[in-house]
Amino acid sequence: MRRAGKIVASLLKLMEKEVRPGITTKTLDQIAENFIYSQKAEPAFKGYYGYPACICVSVNEEVVHGIPGPRLLMEGDIVGVDVGVKVDGYYSDAARTFPAGKVDAESLRLIEVTREALNRGIQKAVEGNRLSDISWAVQSYSEENGYGVVRKYTGHGIGKNLHEDPQVPNYGKPNQGLKLVEGMALAIEPMLNQGSYDVEELTDGWTVVTKDRKRSAHFEQTIIVGKNKAEILTE
Ligand code: MF3
Ligand code: CO
Repeated sequence: MRRAGKIVASLLKLMEKEVRPGITTKTLDQIAENFIYSQKAEPAFKGYYGYPACICVSVNEEVVHGIPGPRLLMEGDIVGVDVGVKVDGYYSDAARTFPAGKVDAESLRLIEVTREALNRGIQKAVEGNRLSDISWAVQSYSEENGYGVVRKYTGHGIGKNLHEDPQVPNYGKPNQGLKLVEGMALAIEPMLNQGSYDVEELTDGWTVVTKDRKRSAHFEQTIIVGKNKAEILTE
């Protein structure tokens, strides 16, 4: 999983450089596919329940699971890129949200608060805490900053499968759910909305958008629960 995590981290670094006005989301996917195979890894998303690409690219009001296509990124867009790979049977999964060119200050704040909400959750991924301590850390920080936390989609366990138990919600009261033990592998992935937390799926069967069409940001890391500190595999 460490090797899978490093590949995803490097790929997201590459995506950060490639996200700019004028590039299509399909081109981003082609770059990602070439990189993944060059690392002798396999894309985790392609073919997963029929998903047609290696990455998800979710722009502005798109929350997650945007399908790469002919769309041209424009100056001012915020662009979520989510990717998973498999190496020797083990998975990693991570996401970041990048600005395309110059982006308005309120969108940059959404991005930074989402990044920090994830970090607050990761800080709770230590032995002796309970699962919902992660959830509460994400929710409280996000709502203090005025954002809606998506409830319909959650983080997840990860390992020999992309998605394993338990679900890792980004909301909930503290001190509930399973006790965290060193070595557990989790993908933590807050999705924060500028408006309401309500989302809906488009008729393409994948793309999730905010109901109010305000913007959304998404960050995800694959982590290992530690005795005193989580290990982040995808940084
Ligand atoms: N990163 C997403 C998740 O954490 C997976 C994308 S769904 C897929 O659940 F179908 F595209 F793989
Ligand atoms: Co995930």
